[in-house]
Amino acid sequence: MKKAAGYQSISVPDHRLDEFFQVVQWAFVGEWLLEDRQDYVDALPTERARGLEVEDPDRGEVGQIAAVHASFGTEMTTPGGRRVPTAGLSWLSVHPAHRRRGLMSAMMKDHFRRCRERGEAVSALYAMEAAIYARFGYGMGAQTVKAEIPRGAKMWPVEGADDLTVRLERADFDAHDELVSGLQARLTRPGTVINPVGSGRNARFTDPVGNRKGMEMWRLAIVEDKGEPVGYAFFRRRADSSIGIHDGVCQVREFGALTPAASQRLWQTLTDFDLVETTYTENLATDDPLLYQLVDARGARSKVIDNLWVRVLDVKSALESREYFHDCDVTISITDKHVPENAGEWRIVVRDGDAEVTKADGSVPDLSMDIKHLSTVYLGGTSVEALTAAGLVREHTAGQARELAVAMLSPVAPLANWDF
Ligand SMILES: CC(C)(COP(=O)(O)OP(=O)(O)OC[C@H]1O[C@@H](n2cnc3c(N)ncnc32)[C@H](O)[C@@H]1OP(=O)(O)O)[C@@H](O)C(=O)NCCC(=O)NCCS
Repeated sequence: MKKAAGYQSISVPDHRLDEFFQVVQWAFVGEWLLEDRQDYVDALPTERARGLEVEDPDRGEVGQIAAVHASFGTEMTTPGGRRVPTAGLSWLSVHPAHRRRGLMSAMMKDHFRRCRERGEAVSALYAMEAAIYARFGYGMGAQTVKAEIPRGAKMWPVEGADDLTVRLERADFDAHDELVSGLQARLTRPGTVINPVGSGRNARFTDPVGNRKGMEMWRLAIVEDKGEPVGYAFFRRRADSSIGIHDGVCQVREFGALTPAASQRLWQTLTDFDLVETTYTENLATDDPLLYQLVDARGARSKVIDNLWVRVLDVKSALESREYFHDCDVTISITDKHVPENAGEWRIVVRDGDAEVTKADGSVPDLSMDIKHLSTVYLGGTSVEALTAAGLVREHTAGQARELAVAMLSPVAPLANWDF
């Protein structure tokens, strides 16, 4: 039987959401608490919930949902602080009884088609496993530093940090949605995925009891400058002690700061709770101000891992939705197995920060690459020249890899500041 034959694509209606959630629990290995159901509904963009339903009895019980995915319709910040219409792909799950029959591949096809119809030039996701997505044209668009910062870590002083005040409150959608959304929308770091909203409360406020693992409910630190919010962080703590020594932890999830002083005030607060010895986070950009403000950066035991995976779905629209930092005139040849409209030659002419991208099929290319490599360099965190040195991008005209690299590299490292 042909791969993915015997299944049909469907939109999952609200009355079938529990079937959707069953597939997710099977795939992600976990049993949710009944009391958490509303949190999951809130976090799911239900109008974009899709599934594959069994229609051939040789595949399973007819009518059963075997695989699901959903995506947030949003925008992502691109280098230079511009934005591109983006689909945040999430919830991708195949029931273990239906794995390796091409269902993920079928869902990716479905996702790409619908994104393009909606005018979403980019798809972005967090990967459970790093080896899954390159085959579909995703590239590692941003990296993150996972760090464990010891209590009271010393920082180089930043002017104005001491003048700022901090409010600590339980994170609450009604009280804080506007404040957090407003602050996040002002962050200019490329890769910032703007306010993905589920079906109800913004997904970032969901707090399933089953996920707490002994930690508090999510709390919010809000840094203010004379009453004006200039920074925020979601955090939660867990107290721990043995033989009388307190060894609690604090986990920091999404955070953002508008100024260097706000960043310092925020981290001073997050790394100095009584009874908490270690503060950890997975959301530091590789050039986050904290990494320079810490006197002993090595003391923040850290590790770099992949953050956001990016997939360019519309070469012209995506490339024209960002800023460039050097003029260039480069023709690239793209291969794209999944979105044939992207394949072929494209001429990229950059003048004064703006690119004009035109289809140039038949032209002799300066560089050749797969769409996953264009996707990798899109947010400016990886250099085209580095991928050329790695043998992944091929250079046909000497010097053109550097031309495009300098034009595309971002002055600040990309990062998506929360995982969806
Ligand atoms: C990962 C998952 C979605 C794959 O679904 P699937 O329907 O079995 O995938 P497909 O049959 O369409 O496989 C497509 C290709 O990806 C490969 N692949 C699948 N899962 C992979 C994995 N975890 N790592 C590396 N490659 C993988 C397959 O080998 C296949 O390769 P081929 O085209 O060369 O034969 C599914 O196993 C799952 O739900 N896992 C648990 C939840 C999860 O990890 N979701 C992803 C969230 S980011």
